[in-house]
Amino acid sequence: MNSVYDKLQNCLHCVRKMTDFVPEVAIVLGSGLGDYADTIDIKYEIDYSAIDGFPVSTVPGHAGKFIFGYIDNIPVVCMKGRVHYYEGYDVSEVVLPTRLMMLMGAKILFLTNAAGGVNTSFHAGDLMLIKDHISVFAPNPLIGPNIDELGVRFPDMSSVYDRELQAVIRRTAAENNIFLQEGNYAQLTGPSFESPAEIRLLRTLGCDAVGMSTVVEAIAANHCGMRVCGISCISNLAAGMGERPLCHEEVQEAADMAAPRFKRLVTESVKGFGL
Ligand code: HPA
Repeated sequence: MNSVYDKLQNCLHCVRKMTDFVPEVAIVLGSGLGDYADTIDIKYEIDYSAIDGFPVSTVPGHAGKFIFGYIDNIPVVCMKGRVHYYEGYDVSEVVLPTRLMMLMGAKILFLTNAAGGVNTSFHAGDLMLIKDHISVFAPNPLIGPNIDELGVRFPDMSSVYDRELQAVIRRTAAENNIFLQEGNYAQLTGPSFESPAEIRLLRTLGCDAVGMSTVVEAIAANHCGMRVCGISCISNLAAGMGERPLCHEEVQEAADMAAPRFKRLVTESVKGFGL
C-alpha cells in the first residue's frame, strides 16, 4: 500500500464520520480572500485540526477550515486557508486537501490566490484568470510511487485549466463589468519574495503573475481527473517593479480592495458552470 494514499483514506474516513455532504465544486480561498466563505449558505464546518493527519497552516491569516454549503443550489466545499510548501510540509501533504475534496465528490476545483504582478500592464487589485502555469520552480506533487487509484503515472498537462470553465469565468466577468486580466501563473517555493532579477527572468519566460501556491494543487487535481480553473488576485507589483519593498500586509489590503469583484466573479461563475 501507498502511505500517501493511506493517509488520504484516513482523512476521508475522519471527514465522513462528521458529515456526508457531497460537494460538486471545491473552492480554495487564497491569502486575504477567506471572507468569501461568508457569502455561501453554510451548512457545516470542519476545522482542519479535527481531521487526523491533516496539514494545518502556520501562516497568520490562513485560519484553517473546510466550509460546506451552497452557492444557489450548488453544493460546494470551501477551503478557508491552505498549507504551503514553504511551511516545511512535504509536497504530498500540500496536495492532500485537493485530493481529499475530490474523494468527497468534487468534480471541479476552483483555485484562488494572491499573487505578485509580473506583467507590466497589471495593477494591484486586478483579478487575473489563470490560463496556464509554470511549475518548474516548484516540486512536482506527483513525485514518488504513483497512486494508481487516483491517476496515471505520466499525466498530460496540456490543458490543466479547463477551457469551458475559463470561458464561463471570462463571460461572467464581462457580464458583470469586472475587468479581468489573463495570464500564466508561476509557483515558486517562497517564503522569501523574489529578487528583481528573478522577476525579470520570469517575465522573459512568459510569466504574468507569481505566487507560492496553486500550481502543485492544479497538477494533483488534473492527475486525479478534476476540472480545474483559477483566479489570481494581484496583490502587488512584483519585486523591483514598484517603489516600496514587498510585505505580507499589502496582500490583505489588495484583497480587501478586490473583495467585492472577487465575490461576484466567483459566485456568478460557479452558477454559470452549468451544474
Ligand atoms: N511574490 C510571490 N508571492 C506573492 C507575491 C509576490 O510578489 N504577492 C503575493 N504573493
